[in-house]
Amino acid sequence: MTSGYTRLSASALPLTLLPGRDPGIRGSLSLPARGESPRKAARQGLPLAGTRGRAFQGWVRGSRSRLVPVLLAFIDLSVLTAGAGAASPAAAVEAEHGMVVSAQHYASAVGAGILAQGGNAIDAAVAVGYALAVVDPCCGNIGGGGFMTIHLKDGRDTFINFRETAPAAATAAMYLDPAGKPVADLSRSGYLAAGVPGTVMGLEHAAQEYGRLARGVLLEPAINLARDGYVLSRADADILAIKADRFAKDPVVARVFLRPDGSRFEPGDRLVQTDLAAMLEAIAQQGPDAFYKGPIPAAVETASSASGGILTAQDFADYRVTEGPPLTCSYRGYRIVSAPPPSSGGTTLCQILNILEGYDLKPLGFGSARSVHLLVEAMRHAYRDRNTYLGDPAFVQNPLERLLSTDYAARIRAEIDAGNAAPSAALQPVHEKAETTHYSVVDGEGNAAAVTYTINGSFGAGVIAPGTGFFLNNEMDDFTVKPGTPNLYGLVQGEANAIARGKRPLSSMAPTLVEKDGRVFLVLGSPGGSRIITAVLETILDIVDYGMAPQQAVEAPRVHHQGQPDEIDFERSGLTPETTVELTTRGYKLVEQRPWGAVELIEIANGRLYGANDPRRPAGAAIGY
Ligand code: DON
Repeated sequence: MTSGYTRLSASALPLTLLPGRDPGIRGSLSLPARGESPRKAARQGLPLAGTRGRAFQGWVRGSRSRLVPVLLAFIDLSVLTAGAGAASPAAAVEAEHGMVVSAQHYASAVGAGILAQGGNAIDAAVAVGYALAVVDPCCGNIGGGGFMTIHLKDGRDTFINFRETAPAAATAAMYLDPAGKPVADLSRSGYLAAGVPGTVMGLEHAAQEYGRLARGVLLEPAINLARDGYVLSRADADILAIKADRFAKDPVVARVFLRPDGSRFEPGDRLVQTDLAAMLEAIAQQGPDAFYKGPIPAAVETASSASGGILTAQDFADYRVTEGPPLTCSYRGYRIVSAPPPSSGGTTLCQILNILEGYDLKPLGFGSARSVHLLVEAMRHAYRDRNTYLGDPAFVQNPLERLLSTDYAARIRAEIDAGNAAPSAALQPVHEKAETTHYSVVDGEGNAAAVTYTINGSFGAGVIAPGTGFFLNNEMDDFTVKPGTPNLYGLVQGEANAIARGKRPLSSMAPTLVEKDGRVFLVLGSPGGSRIITAVLETILDIVDYGMAPQQAVEAPRVHHQGQPDEIDFERSGLTPETTVELTTRGYKLVEQRPWGAVELIEIANGRLYGANDPRRPAGAAIGY
């Protein structure tokens, strides 16, 4: 599960922000050993020393005279630390003043540049959100939605909900044929699959309420990356390759995401997104109205209605974000701060933690059959409740108090102790695709932001309305299309998550903070659909119960059980033969899957910041300073 470091080529870091600076500055990004100050390493002339004795090198050269390396423009390069992937458990990137970990290294660099420029964690989170919309087009977005969990230096926690809403013309049966059967693909591709996007209003709300830099400053790196393009690494090109055949079917998409001759992009090619640059520029100048009013929603409505969709300009005009308290619980003395409904993320995470708190996991050993058994049975119960009870709180009553009570956890433990694996309907195994993205940001003042946002399936609904430059989401598939029918992630859900106009589909996204004594200890989250919750859960257990170092926890193999299908999914080579034999004897069906999720983690320990990028997303990087 490890990958080597990524070497960035001369043209691979178009980290541009300010006009007029020297475009030829060179520098290197270093990985000081854990416990060693980056400043000290730099002073000692250890520009490329890493924890593994390996180098992470990159240098920056603008391709035009006006291009400027953002990081180099703002900060003393010798104090920058970066890492993409990792080769050993201890290889988290260490820094003193700020840290950004995202699934795309340019975006991480943009965030670190904003921090270095005096922005706080929320400024950086907003800038990274826009940058990922450009450099991580499968997943980063302005055509989707998500959640931001924030800790402020004064001790407050808050949660911004910018989840998509169902269009006004949406109905419970909109994806069923006259016989009441779901129509294949209708909720997953094309305009009818799209909810009303929330990302732009969510990012703007965050910046306005909690940021301090001007909107133009936060958007400029993304605009430059879109307008001038960025050079694709192998990892970037691989993500585009997943959907290259589909890109070819839509001329608007093909013009941007395929070469002029129709072939797929290769590493070293430059991806330029002119329409997206114009869209971002308009947001920079006019604010969210540029996205929610006027020509952009009109263009979406025109393209949508021409293709059987129901999105209207009025849906955009009616869109609103909400802000409120995050969902919290405690686990072994830590405070878990995560996503409330309309995400199931925090509720299901806390429900599983409540159950597990009654066991002493450490002596059972990481990955042992006994510990996996307890984990999986807790997951089974929590996912059953998720799929039965949870939905958008604006529409349904979520029985949170009951689900999160210690009595309820004790009752479930009693059942687990008594029982073995229970049979359930056979459903297709779920296969991970790269679609959502999570990033974590911490600044030097004590602010932190965990953001998970998505267009759901890979490249969302696969459509870009002409002239808009952004992929629309296919988030409508997160609703219950029909009770009893599995969605993209194999989730079999109920009436609480039925489609209704203006309602938000139930999510599994779990941007999470773990706090101790009022201070942030961990910032984390993951993509992975229904597996987001278990990826976050297991990373917390790996650190809190098993004492793993941050990078080790991120890399550790994962298991997943969501009730239905009734099987334990495990990552390739993630369970020992002894464990698999014993679990099989206990009655479990085990299904090996390709690695899933991408936990982007920051741990704060002894006043220092440790960033761990998940090597399952090799384009990502932890960058601090
Ligand atoms: O909100 C949700 O739960 C899903 N739409 C997330 C999709 C996702 O994580 C896809 N990534 N692999």
